[in-house]
Amino acid sequence: MSGVVVAVGLLGCGGAEMDLDQVDAVDRMGQEIVGGVEARPNSHPWIVSIQSYGSHFCGGSLVRVGAREESDIVLTAAHCVYDGLSSATVAAGAHDLSRPASGQTTVRVVRSVYHPSYDPDTTLNDIAILKLEKPIKFNQPVAGSCGDSLGMRPNLSTQLASGFTTTPVCLPAANESVSDGTMMTAAGWGLTREGGYDTSNILMQVGVPKINTAEVANMYRSQGIHIDPYAMLGAGYRQGGKDSCQGDSGGPLVAPGANGRYVLQGITSFGIGCARAGLPGIYTRVSNYIPWINQQIRLYSSSL
Ligand code: ARG
Repeated sequence: MSGVVVAVGLLGCGGAEMDLDQVDAVDRMGQEIVGGVEARPNSHPWIVSIQSYGSHFCGGSLVRVGAREESDIVLTAAHCVYDGLSSATVAAGAHDLSRPASGQTTVRVVRSVYHPSYDPDTTLNDIAILKLEKPIKFNQPVAGSCGDSLGMRPNLSTQLASGFTTTPVCLPAANESVSDGTMMTAAGWGLTREGGYDTSNILMQVGVPKINTAEVANMYRSQGIHIDPYAMLGAGYRQGGKDSCQGDSGGPLVAPGANGRYVLQGITSFGIGCARAGLPGIYTRVSNYIPWINQQIRLYSSSL
């Protein structure tokens, strides 16, 4: 991460007023996802916790690599892997990291590739792929699909016997854009202390609307940070209160597509503090990288 982004990141997640209008909001101010709620089981079946020596440090998303109901490719943020990985694993099908459920699998990461134009000083092109040692099997109900979130469709979640599902997230079409105001969901475990390595055990999620990119660029310009309209998108509330935060990086920002399936529109990238008024979270705009992602899948997946 750049000096500027790290410096501001260290200001942490607290400060902003929390929106406690949601009855089930879990009060974890100053910790992971800010102003969010505990994720419903099976809401984010593509999310993985990326861990080093068993400690969570970033999120990621499983993507479909071909027709098989398995994947060995995870999308994450470049800044999560830029300094190299040691004893990295990903946990899929996880919810409470302290109490692994029956469906949870942990697989070693054998390779990480960040975007060749990733710039740690500006956080431009903050995207990377991880190649897993062996593919993670999907156990979604509909073969060949993606983005099927049973947890976000509660009437369907009863069809599940037990444990957690693993499903790939859908990718957006190349250069697809998200309309301003579209409600999206960010999810993650996050760090519980600034600069520390304590993880939130429970997967949290928060709903954040997309904010007009010119407006986001204006907000960040005053902080000396350039928002690239093709490479980044901003989501959050002008008044603050709800946001992703440190340790949610690399994790998914999804929006439902036309068919109700969830599409990975963003990858949690950076912010200034968390949930502050006038400083929405910044996400890598996934639709800008579709050819690159497909190329990495062809190069590195063994599950094609
Ligand atoms: N860079 C942070 C990380 O590594 C993500 C911060 C997201 N910040 C925000 N305010 N949305 O986890």
